[in-house]
Amino acid sequence: MSAAERLEHAERLDGAAAVAETLVRRVLPPGARSDVLHGVPLGQPAHPALAGLPLGFWTSAAVLDLVPGSARASRALIALGLAAVVPAAAAGWVDWSELHREQQRVGLVHAASGACASVLFAGSLLARMTGRTASGRALTLGGLAAATAGGFLGRHLAFPMGAGASHAEPVTHLAPLGWHNLCKVSDLPQGRPVSRRLGYLTLVVVRHRGEICVLDDQCAHLGGPLHQGELVTSADGSPCLVCPWHGSTFRLADGSVMRGPATARQPAFEVRVTAERTVQVRPRNAGQD
Ligand code: FES
Repeated sequence: MSAAERLEHAERLDGAAAVAETLVRRVLPPGARSDVLHGVPLGQPAHPALAGLPLGFWTSAAVLDLVPGSARASRALIALGLAAVVPAAAAGWVDWSELHREQQRVGLVHAASGACASVLFAGSLLARMTGRTASGRALTLGGLAAATAGGFLGRHLAFPMGAGASHAEPVTHLAPLGWHNLCKVSDLPQGRPVSRRLGYLTLVVVRHRGEICVLDDQCAHLGGPLHQGELVTSADGSPCLVCPWHGSTFRLADGSVMRGPATARQPAFEVRVTAERTVQVRPRNAGQD
């Protein structure tokens, strides 16, 4: 088992995680501000892109340390990196607060590595500004090492642990093309989401105000069961479904994200009703038969 995998099971981190989660929710409660930090307007998580900025500035500063006459530029790059850490950390914490416990354990050490890197770079800047250039350069290398360790854990979170990736994306490849019988209209309750199977897929079906809407049932955020979610109406009057796990809200008509933490659109299906009152579906954007 790798060190990162061992962190997933480090229960001794749970106390600190619970305190940090309470703090994050108090400072950045779910809403418009946290949605921007999640990356909802971008359609992808904002934290990875924001985290690349300080790392880029700091790596450049370390490289410039090898170039004579670049002391001023190195200082400027380190200062820019320290400024860029603020939005990157805010986005990271708000994402972290909506993760599973195992992901939070890894995320906590990832954040601690980032904080350690920031302190070392702040020390480096201070040392350089007070004429202790050699110490400043040494602290820069230490900071880069901490940031690299943090980056490794960030990738472990993003790839093996699937934090940030869409958990609904495979539906595009599993849903057969063309129209398929799903269920009878008479089997669908009014105004209550239910699940129905289509081959390997579980779909959530909502019959509401004379319309039938169908989305993939597995929430794009972390795979929560949308058929157990709540039906709500958004500010613009659109019927939406709220995920029971972390509250991501998707427009029923097309699966677009109305509220995070999900950032990716929930796969939606086109629906038609035959003369025999059978509900048929096909993946949205599929070609016409
Ligand atoms: S699984 Fe997190 S909001 Fe749905």
